[in-house]
Amino acid sequence: MQQYSLLDKLIICLDKALHLTQGPPHACRPNPADSMHEADLTPQERRHAAGLMRINHVGEVCAQALYQGQALTARAIEIEEKLQHAAREEIDHLAWCQQRLTELNARPSYLNPFWYLGAWLMGMCAGMISDRTSLGFLAETEQQVAAHLANLEKLPLQDKKSRAIVAQMRLEELQHAHTAEQAGAVELPIFVRRSMHFLAQFMKWWAYRF
Ligand SMILES: [Fe+2]
Ligand SMILES: [Fe+2]
Repeated sequence: MQQYSLLDKLIICLDKALHLTQGPPHACRPNPADSMHEADLTPQERRHAAGLMRINHVGEVCAQALYQGQALTARAIEIEEKLQHAAREEIDHLAWCQQRLTELNARPSYLNPFWYLGAWLMGMCAGMISDRTSLGFLAETEQQVAAHLANLEKLPLQDKKSRAIVAQMRLEELQHAHTAEQAGAVELPIFVRRSMHFLAQFMKWWAYRF
């Protein structure tokens, strides 16, 4: 892997952030919902599904920011490679959520630049502490995201398209958490885990509506 200076890495991060704001990302793998039929949802069900998928989309925007922030400050090359690899996989999640929002005639969160910046700063700070803390932060984030995605029953029962995307994403978030744990993640203190959970609740409230 090529060695970059901190300035190079910062420019790459900025470039990736700008790309995310300029249009839907391109998925490398097929959307798990492609073979599903569109359900006949009532306007209320459609609005609800869109709100939930907007939350998931925000989660993926934050995942991009988090991974980029962490990769910027990672010390070990192999950790940086793992983070960049996971960030590429998360691009598919982001693209699938964005496609589903479009199908539901909905938009992404207006607050995405704000979420991106916040998650990027958090990832960078975690990376500055140590690689193992950064991995611990990542593992905990992925576990909390997977737990959130397990709440499939919140989606309308007949919305098989959204459900297929969420189910696939959940499997992969659990795999990301497992990879981080195997790479040496430390378990974060309980107050940090609780704070992360509280912050996620705050984010979900806003993302569902705006
Ligand atoms: Fe994801
Ligand atoms: Fe993930």
